[in-house]
Amino acid sequence: MASSSYSPHFLSLGIFFLLITTTSSEEESATIISRFQQYLQIDTAHPNPNYSLSTTFILSLAESIGLQYETLEFAKGKPVVILKWPGEKTQLSSILLNSHTDVVPSENHKWVHPPLSAHIDFNGDIYARGSQDMKCVGLQYLEAIKRLKRNGFKPVRTVYLSFVPDEEIGGVDGAGALANSKNFEKMNVAVVLDEGLASPNENYRVFYGERSPWWLVIKAVGSPAHGSKLYENSAMENLQKSLESVWRFRASQFDLLKSGLKEEGEVISVNPVFLKAGIPSPTVQMILFSFYLSLCPSTTYPSFCYQWN
Ligand SMILES: *[C@@H]1O[C@H](CO)[C@@H](O)[C@H](O)[C@H]1NC(C)=O
Ligand SMILES: [Zn+2]
Repeated sequence: MASSSYSPHFLSLGIFFLLITTTSSEEESATIISRFQQYLQIDTAHPNPNYSLSTTFILSLAESIGLQYETLEFAKGKPVVILKWPGEKTQLSSILLNSHTDVVPSENHKWVHPPLSAHIDFNGDIYARGSQDMKCVGLQYLEAIKRLKRNGFKPVRTVYLSFVPDEEIGGVDGAGALANSKNFEKMNVAVVLDEGLASPNENYRVFYGERSPWWLVIKAVGSPAHGSKLYENSAMENLQKSLESVWRFRASQFDLLKSGLKEEGEVISVNPVFLKAGIPSPTVQMILFSFYLSLCPSTTYPSFCYQWN
């Protein structure tokens, strides 16, 4: 699942404090936070995510924690990192903790603190692209496992972690390829935990559900004619008709949401994201439009669908 906006994200450290308060010193907290910052500082933003840096980072952490690891490359330059914490009963199906390593692009100048700086302000909030979506989750898995291992905990079932690329652009070469692989079959996964909603306090919201993106391109074409003439069937007119029906549907979904009849995750979001116009000419009206829509139906709660082209 992807996040919803271009605006600066921050993550409250509440989650970390929850992890930390019970057993460890302030020094350990500082180390955990600085590890998180390091992960955030790795530039895995589209369109040129540096997956080799994130892979090196994750593998070195896995090694220090004592997890088995493997890097699968279903598409060149797009590593899927799999970590394994063997369970006591290997015949049982396993648990998979998934997170994606890529983040959506950001515009430096619109940020109070640069998105790759992982700056911590006086409240303890960290500013960075990916602090919520979803490098925080990936590292929380690892920090939690590290602590559990240190305390002598042994899982009954094998626990896998997957760090996948390209989630923000559909995940075809990442989670998609993994799910269709022999490797995944062998992992014998019974349940997967993935990303969810950020929480500004110590409460976690647990939910299940899945949104399916559908990328729709409407190409409007029409008859060309001289600008001095009134004529039927222009490209613009045709596009307008499609758009009007999209907007009507969108408004009906939005009404359900606003009236409280449905939760955010229960409606279908339709968001026109990109419009490309053809040849502007004062006389010859030859116009071609591409129009990108994304429809995100979902079963239950997860509510955001992020689009970029
Ligand atoms: C990733 O970053 C490293 C270190 O800055 C650099 O050497 C490498 O070329 C980068 N890889 C890509 C694909 O940008
Ligand atoms: Zn995400």
